[in-house]
Amino acid sequence: MPITLKSASDLEGMRIAGRLAAEVLDLLAEHVRPGVSTERLDQIAHDHMVNVQGAVPAPLHYAPPGYAPYPKSICTSINHQVCHGIPNERPLKSGDIVNIDITVIKDGWHGDTSRMFIVGEGSIQAKRLCQLTYEAMWRGILKVRPGARLGDIGHAIQSFTESQGYSVVREFCGHGIGRKFHEEPQVLHYGRPGTLDELVPGMVFTIEPMVNAGRREIRELGDGWTIVTKDRSLSAQWEHTVAVTADGCEILTLSAGSPPPPAFAGG
Ligand code: MF3
Ligand code: CO
Ligand code: CO
Repeated sequence: MPITLKSASDLEGMRIAGRLAAEVLDLLAEHVRPGVSTERLDQIAHDHMVNVQGAVPAPLHYAPPGYAPYPKSICTSINHQVCHGIPNERPLKSGDIVNIDITVIKDGWHGDTSRMFIVGEGSIQAKRLCQLTYEAMWRGILKVRPGARLGDIGHAIQSFTESQGYSVVREFCGHGIGRKFHEEPQVLHYGRPGTLDELVPGMVFTIEPMVNAGRREIRELGDGWTIVTKDRSLSAQWEHTVAVTADGCEILTLSAGSPPPPAFAGG
């Protein structure tokens, strides 16, 4: 399957889906506090997507080849969980870090974004990991423009992350997105500059680095979805959906509550 390019009118649809996904994170932000369960966050998000936004939660019953259908509407990955954590009844506690990953389908278009949240009072190491992973995502985003290559994005993320003494997860990557949740191309978060596909206007994909405080190796839990660090070190992830434009990049998953870009990106 080739990379599908999105037309101007396709992008109008994707802009709406992207903003809605980000607005679910804005809504959840005020609910993430000690004592709340991720199950409750899932209910709040599901209700908002379906009944307020008129959107479909893309994760619910999503079943890529080799996977059982995903049972919930959002992904919540806590502490040493890397990604695809399944919401449950356990209450969050002060000091936890949690990635909430939201994907909505609106009028057939997908928007996919995630942020880190620190529950109550976070440790210095936890805050540093979350901040550094945010900066890593932004270093990738700043490479996006026509003529650049996918390897430029991966290299920017990997070289920064490893220079800080952290590691990049290899088994999961960003992805093309549109009428399908996961399309070509794969957007690796590591690599060499000047390699892989050239970016052209109309490409839309996610950048979603997973960064571990310890070693990069991961394993899957018995639930068939949740990914954790092998060494049980903390892991963080941020995700935006971006479009390649004629002269650079448009982030499709911004909302009123999006954190500002880091200083080096003009924020
Ligand atoms: N939202 C995730 C991503 O960024 C995918 C989650 S698949 C699910 O690609 F089934 F777990 F929801
Ligand atoms: Co994604
Ligand atoms: Co996602």
